Amino acid sequence: MKITTTNAIPQRTNIPRHIGIIMDGNGRWAKKRFMPRIMGHKKGVDQLEAAVRRCTELGVEYLTVFAFSTENWRRPVEEVSFLMGLFSEALKKKVRLLHKNNIRLKVIGGRDKFPPQIRDAIYESEALTANNTGLTLTVAADYGGRQDILNAVNSLIKQGKTEITEEDMFNNLSLGFAPEPDLFIRTGGEARISNFMLWQMAYAELYFTDALWPDFDEKELDKAIASFQKRERRFGRTTEQLPENEQRS
Ligand code: IPE
Ligand code: IPE
Ligand code: MG
Repeated sequence: MKITTTNAIPQRTNIPRHIGIIMDGNGRWAKKRFMPRIMGHKKGVDQLEAAVRRCTELGVEYLTVFAFSTENWRRPVEEVSFLMGLFSEALKKKVRLLHKNNIRLKVIGGRDKFPPQIRDAIYESEALTANNTGLTLTVAADYGGRQDILNAVNSLIKQGKTEITEEDMFNNLSLGFAPEPDLFIRTGGEARISNFMLWQMAYAELYFTDALWPDFDEKELDKAIASFQKRERRFGRTTEQLPENEQRS
């Protein structure tokens, strides 16, 4: 059976369970408007709210967003400090809204480099929303995929393992609570992974768009999901081996 979508409104079935997003292009969005880069980051936070809302409406179970990479510490000190302020403010202001909408918040990545008030806000926000049963929103901050793999291996060594399985790895990674991502989205026109979810991305469907993150509204997200729904996910098998409702060609 052939499934075609005539527009970009995703079907209600075959919604990706887990979407990962590299929210890129904030600086260029601001530059285009002759504004300082930080204004792009500010607008980016609002756009994240829209993505969270749309994911909730569509029944996506996990949304994991890359907010700050282990490499982003290399940016000018003023930009880094603005981003820290924005993170802290967003944690304080938005967490109640998340909680009201039954959203569970998780933050993955290093904690040591953050100022203590951010660390505290992370713990408090996670604790407040821990038992929520709707969307799990995971913010990756001071996160690097390689770092995450190393942490998992080191923790397995500490547990005394001399041989490890894929399951061991999966469970010891910081995203051990989530299924593998089905759909990976990168905004901002670059076609690279920039050290995001390296282990988990093995079979994610990749979607790259030129839209800059502050312009990535609900319609853009719908387009990405509609594109995902047209893909045939074979996981090494042939088309003929797939159940009919999963065949796309
Ligand atoms: C992504 O936007 C946000 C962060 C990395 C914090 P950028 O700041 O990388 O924006 P561009 O890529 O310079 O446009
Ligand atoms: C990736 O964006 C990280 C985040 C969006 C947080 P970058 O803008 O830092 O990626 P590169 O350096 O262009 O690869
Ligand atoms: Mg960038």
